[in-house]
Amino acid sequence: MTLILGLESSCDETAAALVTGERRILAHRLAGQEAAHRPFGGVVPEIAARAHVEMLTPLVAAALDDAGIALDAVDAIAATAGPGLIGGVMVGLVTGKALALATGKPLVAVNHLEGHALSPRLADPELGFPYMLLLVSGGHCQLLFVEGVGRYRRLATTIDDAAGEAFDKTAKLLGLGFPGGPAVEQAARAGDPRAVPLPRPLIGSQEPHFSFAGLKSAVLRARDAGLHRAEDIAASFQQAVVDCLIDRTRRALAVSPRATALVVAGGVAANGAVRSALQRLAQERDIPFSAPPLWLCTDNAAMIAWAGCERYREGLIDTLDAPARARWPLDPTAEKARGAGVKA
Ligand code: KG4
Ligand code: ZN
Repeated sequence: MTLILGLESSCDETAAALVTGERRILAHRLAGQEAAHRPFGGVVPEIAARAHVEMLTPLVAAALDDAGIALDAVDAIAATAGPGLIGGVMVGLVTGKALALATGKPLVAVNHLEGHALSPRLADPELGFPYMLLLVSGGHCQLLFVEGVGRYRRLATTIDDAAGEAFDKTAKLLGLGFPGGPAVEQAARAGDPRAVPLPRPLIGSQEPHFSFAGLKSAVLRARDAGLHRAEDIAASFQQAVVDCLIDRTRRALAVSPRATALVVAGGVAANGAVRSALQRLAQERDIPFSAPPLWLCTDNAAMIAWAGCERYREGLIDTLDAPARARWPLDPTAEKARGAGVKA
């Protein structure tokens, strides 16, 4: 039985988990930092890094205690090595290296995005390769054709904001609080998704990518016009995001007939409207739909332990000089999309 300790510290969640190759989650501990960042309306990297220093080692001890396992019993230590806020990434990676050195166990330096990308396979034993993955988080919005562990072909990305970022900014504009995604979803329940006309950037476009910046500006204008309730703006915004995600995913599926399933992962995958729209799209395409349980969508260490497990089983271990990376694309061959200073 393979047993992996996973560490996560790339953004504002500090987490440690123990996961087996048979998909058993023996322990998962998580300390969120919402209260520390709330006064600033967003994650402050320096505050996050300091909190990881305080929290991570005690969480490792607690996870081992929960599982009734000694550190020596693990087969490998998996730590997020990027992408993310570099201070936090360094805390987790160096902790992982120190534990690997002390125990003589191998280190697996995990790409946080691969943690999200493989997380549906931790929850769903039926999910095999290749699959179409919509990876929607605070920092990323991508469509990836997942051929196997470590084998990702990026079909689309955002040319400006990520979907989660758009949720967070909308929450801020509407004064709904932090973190934004769950707050917008909550407000949207009491709103009418047809009340406010909002744009659907790039819908129907020949290029495969996403765009959410224009939507955010439209939310700002709708708010300033003072004609609509915050709940109606939230519901209309959420519907616009769903429409964009579905249109782009439908296009990606049309050009990838080999995809055996439609899969969603990342923090925005916790959104009920997003999940049910994708489920309907999978039905329309007559392929299975797979989404991790909500707690496994947002950042956690179980997905890092699982990705570490998948890599370890393929012999993909790392040396103790593995670098911490602020940027680390899953598909290094993908061309830059226009936007972010890149012209079409
Ligand atoms: O994957 P994640 O926990 O962290 C990153 O790697 O970015 O994703 C966080 C993002 C945030 O932007 C948050 O607002 C969004 O996921 N999110 C949601 C929901 N829960 C989290 N967005 C929409 N609806 C939700 N229920
Ligand atoms: Zn994440």
